[in-house]
Amino acid sequence: MFRGLLHLLTVPSFLSVLAYGSTSLQTFWPAAVPLAVRSPYLSAWQSTTKGINVTSEWSRFWPNHGLLLGWTGHIRVDSTTYRWLGNDTWSTAGNLAGIEVTPTRTIYNVQAGPMDVTITFLSPIEPSDWVRQSIPFSYMAVNASSNDGLAHSVQLYSDITAEWVSGNRSALVNWSTATTDQSVYHKIELTSPTAFEEIQNQANDGVAYYSMTMGPHVTYQTGSAPTVRTQFQQQGSLQNTNDTDFRIIGPADQPVFAISVNLGSIQATQSSVVWAIGYVRDPSIKYTTSSGQTQLRSPYYRTQYSSVQDIISEFLSDYSNAETRAEDLDNQLMQASSSISNEYSQIVSLAARQTFGSIDITVANGTDGNWNTSDVMIFMKNMGIDGRVNPVEIMYASFPLFLYLNASFGKPLLAPLFEYQDSPQTALPYAMSDLGGSYPIASGENGTSSESESSWGIERKIWKYAHHDSGSCEADWRWFTDWPTLWPP
Ligand SMILES: *[C@@H]1O[C@H](CO)[C@@H](O)[C@H](O)[C@H]1NC(C)=O
Ligand SMILES: *[C@@H]1O[C@H](CO)[C@@H](O)[C@H](O)[C@H]1NC(C)=O
Ligand SMILES: *[C@@H]1O[C@H](CO)[C@@H](O)[C@H](O)[C@H]1NC(C)=O
Ligand SMILES: *[C@@H]1O[C@H](CO)[C@@H](O)[C@H](O)[C@H]1NC(C)=O
Ligand SMILES: *[C@@H]1O[C@H](CO)[C@@H](O)[C@H](O)[C@H]1NC(C)=O
Ligand SMILES: *[C@@H]1O[C@H](CO)[C@@H](O)[C@H](O)[C@H]1NC(C)=O
Ligand SMILES: *[C@@H]1O[C@H](CO)[C@@H](O)[C@H](O)[C@H]1NC(C)=O
Ligand SMILES: *[C@@H]1O[C@H](CO)[C@@H](O)[C@H](O)[C@H]1NC(C)=O
Ligand SMILES: *[C@@H]1O[C@H](CO)[C@@H](O)[C@H](O)[C@H]1NC(C)=O
Ligand SMILES: *[C@@H]1O[C@H](CO)[C@@H](O)[C@H](O)[C@H]1NC(C)=O
Repeated sequence: MFRGLLHLLTVPSFLSVLAYGSTSLQTFWPAAVPLAVRSPYLSAWQSTTKGINVTSEWSRFWPNHGLLLGWTGHIRVDSTTYRWLGNDTWSTAGNLAGIEVTPTRTIYNVQAGPMDVTITFLSPIEPSDWVRQSIPFSYMAVNASSNDGLAHSVQLYSDITAEWVSGNRSALVNWSTATTDQSVYHKIELTSPTAFEEIQNQANDGVAYYSMTMGPHVTYQTGSAPTVRTQFQQQGSLQNTNDTDFRIIGPADQPVFAISVNLGSIQATQSSVVWAIGYVRDPSIKYTTSSGQTQLRSPYYRTQYSSVQDIISEFLSDYSNAETRAEDLDNQLMQASSSISNEYSQIVSLAARQTFGSIDITVANGTDGNWNTSDVMIFMKNMGIDGRVNPVEIMYASFPLFLYLNASFGKPLLAPLFEYQDSPQTALPYAMSDLGGSYPIASGENGTSSESESSWGIERKIWKYAHHDSGSCEADWRWFTDWPTLWPP
């Protein structure tokens, strides 16, 4: 099976190999590293083209030249505030000592005066659990330890802007903060969302969440960026206040949504300080069924959760287990791929989150009104290039990773293509190369068909791999027997 991984995993087109960074653990560099990458619309990256200055740059929505996503990370040590994320002017950049990229994590080591800070951006890959894989949340976890043997007064802070909510920066947003025994979270949404519409690659119908586990030294605040950030810089804590002057995303008088924790005088953190960031859309896909009906499909986690608040609490409290699962998966993937070469292992490390971050695992209601867990479909977006839905040649390139990790991804990824092709509505005598060009609308409309012969060859090859490697695709794949004349020799 591993041979397939080697032969088929194509190098993503955005990779550029740069040869700087003697301070880094990487021997080669992509143009950007993933920070929070879990779905086509939760896709935050940090550009590395300005070298070691990643602590002085805003993250961006994919593609790498996409819109800025305001996200800051600050540590205040003995009243001096250092920054590991973002590029606001209220703090001093920490010194980047290294970046490591594993399949699930991007880890920054930053020196903030007398404290060494490790920041782990963990975007879980959960190949054996569709509920967990479909939860559109990602972690930022911080450890700090003194580098001079002394204890220091330490506070941590992070905020996001409303830029995570929509690609239309003039759009009006509203927000609220909720506190429970388990967690504190900010919820930010569009006042007038437009369903299934993208603006500059970002969705225009989702809700952003920023959260932390509740604790006695946790404080929060919403308000304009200078007010909230200087409050932390000067006091080391926030005011637990809510700005209710709802306004546009920015940049004028830009609202920020902040959560802070005061660790007191410490030599080292006892456990990681964890924020979780999420972008939730439900329904996630507008699909046209074989009978021509429009079906709204929801993220798979809905089969288990009905409340986002529950997801947030459980996602946060699961951090250390999630970290252990991530380390196991990383070790497995990196061991297997580095037996080919170190460079190959680094490509796999980058491509893993990119691949899993391009899919939505969906479920629909059955005729009885309950979630039908036999009706699972997975949709893939041609990220950053165009909005093609389930593009066969991109799926082909990604299949080695799915097959290697869990071949049961195969059937639900192919199912919508086959259903559409089989539909009496369309009755196409050829294979589609995608389900249309307007993710998240999977209508088949405007699908490209010019490469139908090669599409067919690719689909057949994908099916053969899936069939060969797992029992999960041995179901009745009548599409392949119905059109024998179309099979390439
Ligand atoms: C990094 O930032 C420093 C200080 O702002 C600047 O002098 C240097 O040119 C930057 N490096 C790159 C590669 O942009
Ligand atoms: C960060 O902000 C400073 C001050 O506004 C600006 O001069 C610098 O170019 C920014 N850095 C990057 C990498 O964009
Ligand atoms: C693969 O995924 C399916 C569906 O989530 C799950 O039931 C199965 O246990 C997984 N298999 C492995 C080997 O992880
Ligand atoms: C962005 O939002 C503004 C304010 O609601 C609206 O006037 C404008 O048409 C929107 N732009 C796009 C591209 O949707
Ligand atoms: C802000 O909102 C939180 C959560 O709804 C609430 O507990 C708190 O009382 C509010 N604070 C103020 C000052 O209104
Ligand atoms: C924000 O706007 C949405 C959509 O109009 C609405 O459903 C929600 O109640 C509003 N929330 C607040 C806090 O005003
Ligand atoms: C952070 O600290 C925790 C608790 O000491 C530890 O389990 C974890 O491995 C550390 N993480 C990193 C990336 O150093
Ligand atoms: C659930 O989905 C399967 C597969 O599409 C279908 O055969 C079955 O009839 C559906 N069940 C209900 C209750 O709708
Ligand atoms: C599916 O059913 C659930 C409850 O059974 C309901 O909450 C949800 O809105 C339904 N979804 C759609 C798209 O009809
Ligand atoms: C298909 O193309 C037509 C003409 O360009 C356009 O009006 C329509 O919105 C497109 N449909 C989809 C689903 O993208």
